[in-house]
Amino acid sequence: MRKEQPIKRYSAPERVNHWIVAFCFLFVAISGLGFLFPSFNWLMNIFGTPQLARILHPFFGVVMFAAFLIMFFRYWKHNLINKDDILWAKNIHKITLNQEVGDTGRYNFGQKCVFWLAIISLILLLVSGIVIWRPYFAPSFSIPAIRVALMVHSFAAVLLILVIMIHIYAALWVKGTITAMVEGWVPAAWAKKHHPRWYREIRAKEAGRNRQENKT
Ligand code: HEM
Repeated sequence: MRKEQPIKRYSAPERVNHWIVAFCFLFVAISGLGFLFPSFNWLMNIFGTPQLARILHPFFGVVMFAAFLIMFFRYWKHNLINKDDILWAKNIHKITLNQEVGDTGRYNFGQKCVFWLAIISLILLLVSGIVIWRPYFAPSFSIPAIRVALMVHSFAAVLLILVIMIHIYAALWVKGTITAMVEGWVPAAWAKKHHPRWYREIRAKEAGRNRQENKT
């Protein structure tokens, strides 16, 4: 039997966009943990020196937010929750055993949760980050406002770090996923197994295009 052709999942600009977000995330998460916990102070050296980490951390944060916003507008429609997602969530124990449930589209319920939690925590990080950003914006806010913003910033950061740890684990654990973001394609068998509705949509589009070409 002939092996099916791999399926394109992300274009080069989409992948560059994602890896800008991921690269900025690693720098801000590592330096941020360095600021937060005294026992992790050594992590501030990720930017070369602690002073540089303090200066660059907010700028990398803004770049991460802006780059993620592009991803947000690209993918939000594919991340809307539907009834198959409820079925998926109710059967999470089967998913952990590498079985599939429901007619999943381009993204499954787990990926959709990562997407929405990422945008929520990034908005909280941006807003609270501006309030505490010295020397530019913090002098315009009261001390109690800065205290609240510091709490929000820390909790949102821990939330995002946990969410991204799950995201990375899933990307590596589900065999065949990582090529999507590295090379842009996925094996047809991967799409058929994990995202059957998306697989049918892609094949239907291809068939439509072939019919159109044959006519002309
Ligand atoms: C640092 C290591 C990271 C790795 C190894 C990684 C890996 C991947 C992979 C393999 C995919 C493709 C999944 C698929 O199409 O089924 C993906 C998609 C995605 N990634 Fe990452 N990623 C990382 C960091 C991040 C970060 C920091 C964010 C956001 C703050 C992020 C947000 C996303 C989003 C939004 C998608 C599209 C999925 C969706 O819209 O639900 N990733 N990632």
